Amino acid sequence: MESFTDGVQQLCQMYRGVEGFCLPEQCLSIQNFISAHPEIRVIGEIGFNVGMSAASMLAIRPEAEVWSFDLFINHYSQMQHASVEKHFPKRLRLIMGDSTVTVPAFQQLVKEPCFDFVFVDGGHVDPVPRLDIQNMLKLLKPGGFLCVDDYCEAFGHEGVIEAYDEAVANGQIKTLSHEYADNRGWVFAQKLS
Ligand SMILES: C[S@@+](CC[C@H](N)C(=O)[O-])C[C@H]1O[C@@H](n2cnc3c(N)ncnc32)[C@H](O)[C@@H]1O
Repeated sequence: MESFTDGVQQLCQMYRGVEGFCLPEQCLSIQNFISAHPEIRVIGEIGFNVGMSAASMLAIRPEAEVWSFDLFINHYSQMQHASVEKHFPKRLRLIMGDSTVTVPAFQQLVKEPCFDFVFVDGGHVDPVPRLDIQNMLKLLKPGGFLCVDDYCEAFGHEGVIEAYDEAVANGQIKTLSHEYADNRGWVFAQKLS
C-alpha cells in the first residue's frame, strides 16, 4: 500500500490537474471502518480516478474485491488501474462509462443486491449524486454499509449533501458517523430497508 501511495504522489508531481482523490486521513477512516466489519468482502465504488480509495479498501483483507464504476476519461486512470492490478491482482473490476447508465445496467445483470459496502465518490453535481446513491443502494445488501465522500459544504453543496439527506429522510439509511479532515467531510451509513 505504501508503494502505491508513493506512486500517487509521483503522479501528482508529474501531471497538473489530477482530479481530487481520497486524503490519507480518509483512506485510514475507510480502512478502519472495513476492518471493524469482517463481513465486508464485496465492495462497490463509484469514482476510481487515481485508485486511492480502491487500493485502500483492497488492502484490508485478501478476500476483498472492488467493483469500480468510472467514466475513465482521465488519461492517468489507465496507468493507475495497472498499478492497482499489480498490487492486488484480479481483485479489481472496472466498469467504464457514465455511472448513471452503467450502475442500473449492472443491476439488471446481477438482479440481487451483491455489495456489502459501497463507496460513492463520482460526479458531485445534481442529479448525479442522487442517482448514484439511489442506484448503489439497490445493489447494497440489507444491513450493508454506505460511505459518501464530500458530505461537506466545500465540495458537497451542488448536490451531494441534498442527495444523502434525502436518503436519510426517506428512511433508507441511518447515519453511523460523520468524519472530517481539513475542509473535507464524509459519512458512513447503514442501509435500513
Ligand atoms: C473525486 S474523483 C474519485 C477519487 C477516487 N475515489 C480516488 O480515491 O482516487 C471522482 C471520479 O468520478 C468520476 N466520475 C465523475 N462523474 C462520473 C459519472 N457520471 N460516471 C462515472 N464516473 C464519474 C471521475 O471520472 C473521477 O474519476
